Amino acid sequence: MKETALRTLLSEMTLEEKIGQLIQLPGYFQNEGMATGPAGDMGLTQEDLQLAGSYLSIAGAEKTRKLQTDFMANHPHHIPLLFMADIINGYRTVFPIPLAQGCTFDPDTVEAGAAVAASEAAAAGIHVTFSPMADLVRDARWGRVMESPGEDPCLNGRIAAAMVKGYRGKDLKEKGTIGACLKHFAGYGAPEGGRDYNTVELSCRTLKEDYLPAYSAAIKAGCDVVMTSFNTLDRIPSAANDWLLKQVLRREMDFRGMVITDWNALEELLRHGIAADQGEAAFIALRAGVDMDMTSSVYARNLKHLVEEGKIPEAWIDDSAWRVLMLKNKLSLFETPFRDADEKAEKELILCAAHRQAARECAEKSFVLLKNEEKILPLNLTEENIAFIGPYVNNQLLNGAWSVFADDEDTISLKKALLARPETQNTPTAPGCPIHDPEQSVTGFQRPVQPDKTDIENTLKEAVQLARRVKKVVLCLGEHRECTGEAASRGDITLPSCQIRLLNAVAEVNRNIIVVLFSGRPLDIRPLREKAKAILVAWLPGTEGGNAVVRTLSGEYNPGGKLSMCFPYSIGQLPIHYNHLNTGRPYHEEADNGRFFSRYQDIPNEPLYPFGFGLSYTSFAFSPVKLSADRMTRKDRITASVTVTNTGDRAGMETAQLYLRDLAGSVARPVRQLKDFRKVSLNPGESREITFLITEDILKFYNLQMQYVSEPGAFDVFIGPDSRTENGARFMLTE
Ligand code: GLC
Repeated sequence: MKETALRTLLSEMTLEEKIGQLIQLPGYFQNEGMATGPAGDMGLTQEDLQLAGSYLSIAGAEKTRKLQTDFMANHPHHIPLLFMADIINGYRTVFPIPLAQGCTFDPDTVEAGAAVAASEAAAAGIHVTFSPMADLVRDARWGRVMESPGEDPCLNGRIAAAMVKGYRGKDLKEKGTIGACLKHFAGYGAPEGGRDYNTVELSCRTLKEDYLPAYSAAIKAGCDVVMTSFNTLDRIPSAANDWLLKQVLRREMDFRGMVITDWNALEELLRHGIAADQGEAAFIALRAGVDMDMTSSVYARNLKHLVEEGKIPEAWIDDSAWRVLMLKNKLSLFETPFRDADEKAEKELILCAAHRQAARECAEKSFVLLKNEEKILPLNLTEENIAFIGPYVNNQLLNGAWSVFADDEDTISLKKALLARPETQNTPTAPGCPIHDPEQSVTGFQRPVQPDKTDIENTLKEAVQLARRVKKVVLCLGEHRECTGEAASRGDITLPSCQIRLLNAVAEVNRNIIVVLFSGRPLDIRPLREKAKAILVAWLPGTEGGNAVVRTLSGEYNPGGKLSMCFPYSIGQLPIHYNHLNTGRPYHEEADNGRFFSRYQDIPNEPLYPFGFGLSYTSFAFSPVKLSADRMTRKDRITASVTVTNTGDRAGMETAQLYLRDLAGSVARPVRQLKDFRKVSLNPGESREITFLITEDILKFYNLQMQYVSEPGAFDVFIGPDSRTENGARFMLTE
């Protein structure tokens, strides 16, 4: 519809109709979808329902077409509904969790996965996904780290932007595309104590340096909607934060699209204690610039009388309704209210072979090989005497907690993958133990039925007897998928004790242990490092997880993933991140420089496995960093090059990472920051020169006056296989 016609439509709408556009209803009002927050009836009237602007979490071509048809017939201006849903890592063909997708360091692969997700979701009648989640994460206690691309601003930004491009394609008018909603704005990934929904205390500088860049990248990539976060920033909840939404999001980041709250967040302004009643909540949220109220009744019940009492200018309602109508118009909903909802396309696309292959390839690229002593991997699955033991062998729960539309029956477990291959059809397997301890306090999911004590002992005994009979054991361990996701923070990130008991019992009779670890967060895996010769992190790999793991263990795929979030030595280090400040008393273990330094008495400062780390079945060497010049002015650009060589005996993929350190600034600067990365595939003996461009832009930061500038001085540039590389060179930025 032409904008002039849209303006005319807005001018003809009643106040009630305009307010209706600002309301998003939960799918369960139509007996569809799952409540992703506290559920209630919202106390809405029939008219509220008839005039609503959007539903969330309803999917299915037939359902959405029927609901849209009935709804538009009853709407005074026949304005179509907007269908939004959580397509976080796939619709029905499920991809690895975003934290794992970050480990691919491969935006192209991530973009392709998002395009697959969009094609399936679009056929199911979904218009916009509540993705990408671009929250920076540094605390593995927080259950939602699984949804984030990880701990680094540069990587998060590349991955979030890739998801936006994948969902939206070249043009939203193209078939198989959906709109993208960036979340959770802002700083939701930094809750105190790693406890979900908790207070966030960030300086403005840290917010802008570390947390906003990924959101900004997603906005630059064209995301259509921004979702406010539950948390407070500077003691102001995002949904009522004028500075955050008007000054930062609208003026500084130039976002002009629709802003939606998270689930019931307007009602929660009362619990935050910044609104005495719903009327005040409605006022401060609309003033801040929240356009759409997700599943609370605050806007529906209060905006009308606030306008009629002269407390809110109707122009505020018009502005928000306009952004909602503009989004619907961008999606061509006025001309094509069903968009791509199509039952035939659903049948053709959902879980088709090409989508399954894309999911499997993404999973393989997301795996991170942390250890491979004696080159125990890859395995010869045909000739070697191997057993697969552990609660994750015959477990189809490989989708992340946000795979809300997927069916676990579609997932290929490890067991299924072994049975599907002639050479492993008879490979012996054993569960060894339950997936979690009977007394483990895990809320939010129906615990699998816990076997009784005798069964637990027999299961363990059977596993140990099997381990005794074989040459190598693939031990498949990990946390239950419902241990991560929303409202799944944990005060203990060790593996369940029943799994540690299994590890120890197997290690007693067989030293050749390869651990495949399934999890939605980095865990404290010191026992695994001690007892296993190899550790492959598979995260929650999705629909094709079993096939991807077996192909990787067999060497058909050579792993090359790199950690998007470090594995801490222990929970005591959290929050932890590689791009930290130096402090006035930096402690260096190797120097062991004594007592009065920034250190712990009982644990190291360094994580067990750092950001950017990951091994391969082959090995790589990096030549010293070569600079095209050792000084530059702001107008110049210099190059930093290395030659990467495959020094091993099989082809493999390395990810060269470029880190910068600004040695002195008008404020303290991180000891290093990832500024670029490049994947390179090399055959044995092959070398490739990789050249990075250093421009003033990547030297900028928020200076003492909070201006985003570069400052003259010395910089170190490091290029290597992970964030600990010392392969560096120095250059000067001169006036
Ligand atoms: C949830 C989540 C958000 C999700 C929304 C809709 O509470 O915080 O990420 O998109 O509700 O399901």
